[in-house]
Amino acid sequence: MTASLPYALTAELTHRCPLHCPYCSNPIELQKRESELSTGEWLSVLEQANDLGVAQVHFTGGEPLLRPDLERLVRRARELGLYVNLITSGVGLTDERINRLVEAGIDSIQLSVQAASAELADSIAGFRAYELKRQAAQRIRERGLPLHMNVVLHRANLHQIEEIIELCADWGAERLELANAQYYGWALRNVNELLPRREQLQAAEAAYKRALERFGRRIELIWILPDYYEDFPKPCMGGWGRLSLTIAPDGRVLPCTASSDIRSLTFENVKERELAWIWHDSPSFNAYRGYDWMPEPCRSCERRELDYGGCRCQAFQLTGDARATDPVCVRSPHRGIVADRVGSVEQGKAGTPDYAYRGR
Ligand code: SF4
Ligand code: FES
Repeated sequence: MTASLPYALTAELTHRCPLHCPYCSNPIELQKRESELSTGEWLSVLEQANDLGVAQVHFTGGEPLLRPDLERLVRRARELGLYVNLITSGVGLTDERINRLVEAGIDSIQLSVQAASAELADSIAGFRAYELKRQAAQRIRERGLPLHMNVVLHRANLHQIEEIIELCADWGAERLELANAQYYGWALRNVNELLPRREQLQAAEAAYKRALERFGRRIELIWILPDYYEDFPKPCMGGWGRLSLTIAPDGRVLPCTASSDIRSLTFENVKERELAWIWHDSPSFNAYRGYDWMPEPCRSCERRELDYGGCRCQAFQLTGDARATDPVCVRSPHRGIVADRVGSVEQGKAGTPDYAYRGR
């Protein structure tokens, strides 16, 4: 089938990261520094992405500030006319670094935070990052850049949701993503520690709605659904290979960050193939485009144009078959997998947080 053009490129410059978050959705197998693309290879990727029709690039990781060539890549992306966003933990965003990024033309920065209190935030991150993040937020605002923030919500921090919103508003955020944890990659290892109880989620959602009224236009709040508690899956990535592409640190081109864990597919690499060929013609990008690949019940379901059958990564990780209906869906024959997991939290069988920290 004919593919649409990608709007956004997620450029994962490195998997290296100073934080150890238990909810990390990066794949289980991380790429080592030695296999990262070189500066020249990334510059070529940016040019090819621009030719392909990409309008915005998100530099991320791991921690992209660990790459000393970040500013050079930002500059080139801006020269090409791309909108450039940096997604960072804030660790390493010194005065010198931010000045160089501003000079290179960065458009916006998204900063993560783990909780409202330093103690809880640092215990979730497995690293004393909270104060560094506060300073990073200040530097971003002092340079007049838009500050976008993100918090991953789970059992240990949902009760702080109002304080988190206040904190981000105080730090000067224009936008805050309240992202309920998604269980891919490393996060799936910690699902029993992270998954909240239903009443916790309901209280948090009510607090979010109160905050919408209280903060009005002062901060844009975005609630990302806790899909294990939904009846129908999310339209993950807006559909496989429809709107965006991700490039892993080693140059593999992926429809989304988590997809490298789908072992039934082989992903092409920009070291060997042109980006345009990969987007339009590669078997991996065409695997789940359109509707012909769908099994029942998705194939004849009236919602297939709304959710594209849900998330391929979740289907693979929970059932071993990336074509399967997302087990979040109440119509999926695999719904029991999600229901059992949620049920075990509801009945209090799941453990108290005893995280497997990333990178330890
Ligand atoms: Fe979506 Fe498939 Fe469920 Fe229908 S059966 S709602 S298309 S996941
Ligand atoms: Fe990969 Fe949903 S996270 S398709």
